[in-house]
Amino acid sequence: MCGIVGYIGHRDAYPIIIKGLQRLEYRGYDSAGIALYDGSHINLSKTKGKVTDLENKSKSSISMSGNLGIGHTRWATHGVPNDVNSHPHYSNSGDLVIIHNGIIENYESLKKELGKRGYSFTSDTDTEVLVNLIEEVQKSEGVLLGQAVQIALNQAVGAYAIAVFDKKKPDEIVVAKLGSPLAIGIGENEFFVASDASPFIEFTNNAVYLEDGEMAIVRLGKEIKLRKIQNDAIAYPNILELQMNLEEIEKGGYDHFMLKEIYEQPRAILDTYRGRLLPDQGIIKMTGIDQNLEKFLNANKIIIVACGTSWHAGLVAEYIFEDLARIPVEVEYASEFRYRNPVITEKDVLIAISQSGETADTLAAIKMAKEKGAFVYGVCNVVGSSISRETDSGTYTHAGPEIGVASTKAFTTQITVLTLMALKLAKEKGEFSESRFHEYLTELETIPAKVEKALESNTLVEIIADVYKHSTNCLYLGRGYNFPVALEGALKLKEISYIHAEGYPAAEMKHGPIALIDEQMPVIVIATKKGHYEKVVSNIQEIKSRKGKIIAIVTEGDEQVVDLADHVIEVPETIESFTPLLTTIPLQLLSYHIAVMRDCNVDQPRNLAKSVTVE
Ligand code: F6R
Repeated sequence: MCGIVGYIGHRDAYPIIIKGLQRLEYRGYDSAGIALYDGSHINLSKTKGKVTDLENKSKSSISMSGNLGIGHTRWATHGVPNDVNSHPHYSNSGDLVIIHNGIIENYESLKKELGKRGYSFTSDTDTEVLVNLIEEVQKSEGVLLGQAVQIALNQAVGAYAIAVFDKKKPDEIVVAKLGSPLAIGIGENEFFVASDASPFIEFTNNAVYLEDGEMAIVRLGKEIKLRKIQNDAIAYPNILELQMNLEEIEKGGYDHFMLKEIYEQPRAILDTYRGRLLPDQGIIKMTGIDQNLEKFLNANKIIIVACGTSWHAGLVAEYIFEDLARIPVEVEYASEFRYRNPVITEKDVLIAISQSGETADTLAAIKMAKEKGAFVYGVCNVVGSSISRETDSGTYTHAGPEIGVASTKAFTTQITVLTLMALKLAKEKGEFSESRFHEYLTELETIPAKVEKALESNTLVEIIADVYKHSTNCLYLGRGYNFPVALEGALKLKEISYIHAEGYPAAEMKHGPIALIDEQMPVIVIATKKGHYEKVVSNIQEIKSRKGKIIAIVTEGDEQVVDLADHVIEVPETIESFTPLLTTIPLQLLSYHIAVMRDCNVDQPRNLAKSVTVE
């Protein structure tokens, strides 16, 4: 949570930082701030609200010149979102200025100690404590900024990515990382620091991602120096050449990133299986699985851990792995799993699913499973993310950057990876004949075109959205493979339109939720052919008898549900195990259109952030 950006070099820092913060707003957007050094003064502007509010305020309040600066977009943890608690924060002398993503857990005791030494605080934040601690170390030990940061961080407990500079030494920014991401972009005698590479990708493709426990002094005219925060050991920067391009992180003519990302799914799914799915050769190539085949084949069970939408992808995977590969699977919320003393043995395989690769609970669950000897496999989207580095092996989804806070293409590409894994293991275990394997592989290859077809429902979905945009509640029902899709549909609606929505297995309806049904209640039912179709049709009858409004997602050419439902949205036919990849599309579109019609901020829904790096 929180996005940080810094620049030092020959260009104007202001536009780089503002643009960078806008790209990082997915990480938090309740307040924003910037500090620039103009050659003699630090000019600082900060405000509650979005980066555009910061821009408006800065224009009238500060000089925006300077080749050194840092900026922050916040998702509040300590202290309500207001102007004072926004970052950057000054030290008491006004010489140091800091931005911070993370939490300093022992800030209360540090604050008390600093208070005794005469320090005062204007905000409620842990960050203001940290910058004053650094200043106190500088003064009491007579050391330069880099060393002061290091000593101070050794007294701090918690998680952080920080960037700090000192007015007295304006040729450097000091950065450090533990638990929150931090990338350094390396240009021609200029440096960028940021929570991810998006703020600097148009200036340089060369970047270093700090590892946990590392810090760097980014100094003009010098090579980057990395060192361990704990013991001073030198670390050698691994300079990566990034593949990301600018188009990927811009809206490309769509009104919102979410819509763009919904429409990117055919391409994203194809990119996910490109080079892996090879029907002509009758194989699925996945290096991570090939190299660890015995671990999977001999596993007692697979435990899947994830949060939110990724957890829903995990639930789909439970059906796929058990149904196709006959491997027992448990799916766990990472946040529950890590605290409940679960039974994990060396013969278990843990699969961690995460779009961002930074989710704190998922990361903690991985560490716990590793300590207990389990083999840990990651399914991540963000290349080089903490989870992808922490896992023993893994597969990237290659969905491209997902910027809309509501996950869409991450979900379908995660399911694609997990399907490839399950099919591969099914074949290796002898659960599939050659011909059945070939049938599944060739069908999977048709999915991008079928997703494209499912997207054609957009105009119809928009009409349906208009009918239900004022609803206060909504029920989503599905069975089997499509039960997790119902959960995901409900999550999408509530997170971006703020309508209360529940997902249920269709047959569970009569055990409680049926009491909610009346003529005001829209019920979205996934009723594709195969997969308990007749039983779902009976559930639809039950809803109809109670006057619920039925929006049904059906297979093309359906004749039964058409007569019962108020609205019918068709998706192409496919193998049952692959239906979630299609049925989820109209549900994404429905939540998108309802949110737009309710004037909600689709890409930045209230209280949320894309990357949840606090537990
Ligand atoms: C919902 C959503 C969240 C994330 C969850 C996990 O649309 O985006 O529920 O799925 O916060 O995030 P990752 O996948 O980055 O671990």
